[in-house]
Amino acid sequence: MTALVDTPPADTRPGERPLSLPEHEELAATRLDPRVWDFIAGGSRTESTVTANQAPLDHWWLRPRVLTGVSTADTSTTLLGDPVRLPVGIAPVAYHRLAHPDGEVATARAAGAEGALLTVSIFASRTLEEIAAAATGPLWLQLYAMRDPAVLRDLAQRAEDAGYRALVLTVDAPRIARRLRDARNDFRIPPDVRAVNLDPALMTTSHTAVAGASAVERHAAQQFAPRLDWDQLARLRARTRLPVLLKGVLTEEDTRLAFDHGAAGVVVSNHGGRQLDGAVPSLVALPAVARAAAGRGPVLVDGGIRHGADVLKALALGADAVLVGRPALWGLANGGSTGVAQVLRLLREELEEAMVLTGRADLPAVDASLLTPAAPTRPTSTPQRSWPC
Ligand SMILES: Cc1cc2nc3c(=O)[nH]c(=O)nc-3n(C[C@H](O)[C@H](O)[C@H](O)COP(=O)(O)O)c2cc1C
Repeated sequence: MTALVDTPPADTRPGERPLSLPEHEELAATRLDPRVWDFIAGGSRTESTVTANQAPLDHWWLRPRVLTGVSTADTSTTLLGDPVRLPVGIAPVAYHRLAHPDGEVATARAAGAEGALLTVSIFASRTLEEIAAAATGPLWLQLYAMRDPAVLRDLAQRAEDAGYRALVLTVDAPRIARRLRDARNDFRIPPDVRAVNLDPALMTTSHTAVAGASAVERHAAQQFAPRLDWDQLARLRARTRLPVLLKGVLTEEDTRLAFDHGAAGVVVSNHGGRQLDGAVPSLVALPAVARAAAGRGPVLVDGGIRHGADVLKALALGADAVLVGRPALWGLANGGSTGVAQVLRLLREELEEAMVLTGRADLPAVDASLLTPAAPTRPTSTPQRSWPC
């Protein structure tokens, strides 16, 4: 694997060497146009789910085990049969060129160098073929059901031809929820950043500013399929030889239905808090989904994962792997390919450290016994002393 990360990102200014994902976030916030920053960081309505996604991580503590003899840990696994060096992939995120001119090509190089999965968004700003040419790790392609079914037929075929390994149908967006930051900013996708895998005629609305509205929301209202139901999955499966995962599943009922309808796996996700405001945090939903999946296919989870210990907690709660969305864009903004590789490497190193300190030599050794619920931080009443003092 190419070593992309031994030096700080080429365009890093002195003193700007993020050593954690929150530091990447802080730095990226200073580098991106404020409207682009709001588009990336924001969520729907009150953004309650954006905030809540991280809360379950504080609800669980890790239980260290001692004298285990474990001094290194193997973070490698397989996803749908493909080997990956870490159980962390990059979630589908639209328009990587908003964060760096090389866009998804830079992300693919970084994912390959770190041995990680990359899920490419239907709204990628580089072509599926360019991304595939730069990739050395597994690629999945994410799709939204579009009004014109021919669009998915074409993309599914191109993905197969270019060597993508799976399709991911995002099912939590029968419409794009209102994101107040974008509405306030009259946000539109800048003209030089394009969803180049789609017919430009389908994308005009995304680039047209309207006062008090988000162009992204207006575009979806115009171009997304007006009705989402289980037939969408059946139709996509009929058009492709690739396995199809469903992204945006948060309940055990839908997990069972997903596998009954032939899904190859599920991604437990509330879209990073960008869809249903008030939706259950993904990590709260995860254990029930994992039980309902009952080994019928991989369960991935995304939303709020910012540290290797978070990854370990998600795996202990039943995930086979996690995805990160915004952190990939922070890495891109901070140093292109090198920045993304650094984000992935941080997560792998932090995960490895947490595994060693909990005495787990590899991922099959990770289970729910790693976790204990966090006790209340303050006693609710003062304990009574029963001895004289
Ligand atoms: C700027 C941005 C664009 C996104 N674009 C897509 C997309 O095109 N398709 C999709 O299924 N999810 C999309 N998502 C949601 C991510 O796939 C993922 O669910 C979410 O970002 C995970 O949360 P995290 O950012 O806290 O890691 C997007 C998220 C962000 C922040």
